[in-house]
Amino acid sequence: MHHFQQRDGVLFAEEVSVTALAKQYCTPLYIYSAATFRRHFHAFDSAFDALDHLTCFSVKANSNLAVLKMLAAEGAGMDIVSGGELYRALQAGVDPSRIVYSGVGKRDSEIREALEARILMFNVESLAELERIDQVAGEMGTTARVSFRINPDVDPQTHPYISTGMQKNKFGLDIDMSMQAYKRAAELKHVEPVGMDCHIGSQLTSLDPFLEALDKLLAFNARLKDLGIEIKYLDLGGGLGIPYNEEEPPHPAEFGKALSDKLKGLPLKVILEPGRVIAGNAGILVTEVVYTKSNPAKNFLIVDAAMNDLVRPSLYGSYHRIAEVEPKGRAPKVFDVVGPICESGDFLARDRELPEVMQGELLVVYSAGAYGFSMSSNYNSRPRACELLVDGDKVIVARRRETYDDLLMNEL
Ligand code: LLP
Repeated sequence: MHHFQQRDGVLFAEEVSVTALAKQYCTPLYIYSAATFRRHFHAFDSAFDALDHLTCFSVKANSNLAVLKMLAAEGAGMDIVSGGELYRALQAGVDPSRIVYSGVGKRDSEIREALEARILMFNVESLAELERIDQVAGEMGTTARVSFRINPDVDPQTHPYISTGMQKNKFGLDIDMSMQAYKRAAELKHVEPVGMDCHIGSQLTSLDPFLEALDKLLAFNARLKDLGIEIKYLDLGGGLGIPYNEEEPPHPAEFGKALSDKLKGLPLKVILEPGRVIAGNAGILVTEVVYTKSNPAKNFLIVDAAMNDLVRPSLYGSYHRIAEVEPKGRAPKVFDVVGPICESGDFLARDRELPEVMQGELLVVYSAGAYGFSMSSNYNSRPRACELLVDGDKVIVARRRETYDDLLMNEL
């Protein structure tokens, strides 16, 4: 459930008219609902109440500082994958002891920054990274808490670009290599192996791959125990899908129960790294129809949002529901909804049935709160969109629209 609803013929974000916001802040415009963020966070987090657990929001899904601050205030930790995300999380006031750091290519400087901040742990993805962390921690006269990201070779049945837990993917260590990694960590002076981690992919719509991966991890943990290696943290990553169109992913409660049933009673603190399930449906992208045009093959709605604002349709062929901000009950027609960028791959929807909207009208692109703005760019020298956070009847400019001067700011 989200708080973007039609009221008297106009779409509202919580208590505020989307038309009024678009007038004031222009388009393309990202609008987030604070109530939806909070609701999704607690629906997810409370699903694990039977376990000692920590929910770390995956910063890459929506990195806006106002969003991070709000989630941190609700009790979220953060899952980061870069020095930049660490910086954002710290600026948002997140307690470093609630930050976990994944990623296959952590550089020395990033490792140092995370050690200085005293994050909870590094999810280590290769033997080379382990040696590097040990070395950097040694230079700093400290010890790094590490967990190993295990690649369980499970097919998450999702888009190949966002599947991460199969052997052909670059992520994590296979089971045999993981055993070597724990043994090596036991020999090193400046790392302390405290956890085990796994993230098999994103937008998963079935529980089976999660449970299959968990079984493999638990079997591996039993082998570690036999060797006298005891871990404290089990990080199960993120990946739970959301309904964009007709998908029916498990509800977080179902997900939480299925995992809790397997984990109850084990002396492990469980860490979760949800991104999309919290942010996805907490945000919309509002765009204006700039022109319409038709040829014998196609009807086009040319809108002012483009692949630089929301790349998911172009990159993954993703579906985002699109509708009028002010529905007028007109007959539907089949359109391609395209942006102004000079690429045929610049579209928000293809062959989509939509009412025959006119130039100057507003459309809403749903489910844009995750991997929307955070994946945006300046391609075609387009200033990035404005992000608003609506909380009841309050509107916070979470990021102002970029200007032409912003485009040139770093070009010396
Ligand atoms: N933890 C790790 C280590 C991850 O790599 C990811 C996402 C997550 C957690 C959060 O996954 P989520 O709960 O959001 O599924 N840009 C793509 C999604 C890429 C996901 C990358 N990793 C998209 O727009 O669909």
